[in-house]
Amino acid sequence: MLPTFHIREIPIYGDVVLAPMDGYSDLPFRSICRELGSAASYTEFINAIDVVYSHPRLHERVRFSPQERPLIFQIFDNNPERILQAALRLQEYGPDVIDVNLGCSARGVSGRGAGAGLLRAPEKIAEIFSRLTRALSVPVTAKIRLGWDRSTRNYLEVARIIEQNGGALIAVHGRTRQQAYTGAADWDAIAEVRQAVSVPVIGNGDVRTVADIERMKAHTGCHAVMIGRAAVDNPWIFSRLDREQVPPETVHHTLLRQLQRSLELYGQPHGLVVMRKFAARYLKPYGLEADFRRRLLTTQQPDEFIGLLNSIFDVV
Ligand SMILES: Cc1cc2nc3c(=O)[nH]c(=O)nc-3n(C[C@H](O)[C@H](O)[C@H](O)COP(=O)(O)O)c2cc1C
Repeated sequence: MLPTFHIREIPIYGDVVLAPMDGYSDLPFRSICRELGSAASYTEFINAIDVVYSHPRLHERVRFSPQERPLIFQIFDNNPERILQAALRLQEYGPDVIDVNLGCSARGVSGRGAGAGLLRAPEKIAEIFSRLTRALSVPVTAKIRLGWDRSTRNYLEVARIIEQNGGALIAVHGRTRQQAYTGAADWDAIAEVRQAVSVPVIGNGDVRTVADIERMKAHTGCHAVMIGRAAVDNPWIFSRLDREQVPPETVHHTLLRQLQRSLELYGQPHGLVVMRKFAARYLKPYGLEADFRRRLLTTQQPDEFIGLLNSIFDVV
């Protein structure tokens, strides 16, 4: 099989990728999505400060499984020197790629000039990419938004700066920081970025169905499509299945597999707590009765959780 595209010399097979999502794109969920057909694994964003100062829970963010490769560590900060120091340390864990977050709209991140806050400082973006690409052996990529707000949509300038300073791929979420998650993603802008640079471009924003994957590709010409929120409702989208096409026994088995991995990674009680929020999303179409749902989503006991799941799917 021929690769769909390359991140520098790294072949990527497939045209749909799970988005980095804080609180969701952990090892258990990523590995499930990768098995279902996501072409690569982006981690949740990793704060450079947590790397440099060895946050006690950093190990949960940097653990990955070899089957997930190509594995992309995503990093965020506002300080080029600290991003470089963190990236050098992260490289020692053996990722295939390091990605810099230029898109996070959360006030606590963008307000201090990190994430989408960097879009307001193109000279800093140039410095970050020129320093990282010279110092690291792995490719360095970017995930951007269209700009800070409606009047400063500088995505073409930013994309060119990233490419000129050695960036190997650009993922574009078609909204500004000001939009956060409101309005519609601007797929025309993603198409413009695709035309403006010669590195691969991943399009992102509002892909919810299998048909949307093809629509975004046709509309933008992007090399791959990145899916975030819709993948938490339907990770089977990576196998090109819409949610209503997924057999209940598949949902059941996926929940049990992911639970096992979540308990392995986080231990108890956190492993079950994290898993409960995925269960709420995967089980949404079944319209569970309120009392039952409350029990399922508040239990502290994995055995009780599994028993309740089994009863939904009629397994004794
Ligand atoms: C809960 C949540 C957490 C997110 N965390 C990150 C993150 O850590 N890094 C990042 O680049 N984008 C993050 N995003 C943005 C997504 O990667 C993606 O760009 C956005 O959700 C739009 O894609 P979608 O319409 O497919 O959801 C997050 C989004 C959500 C909803």
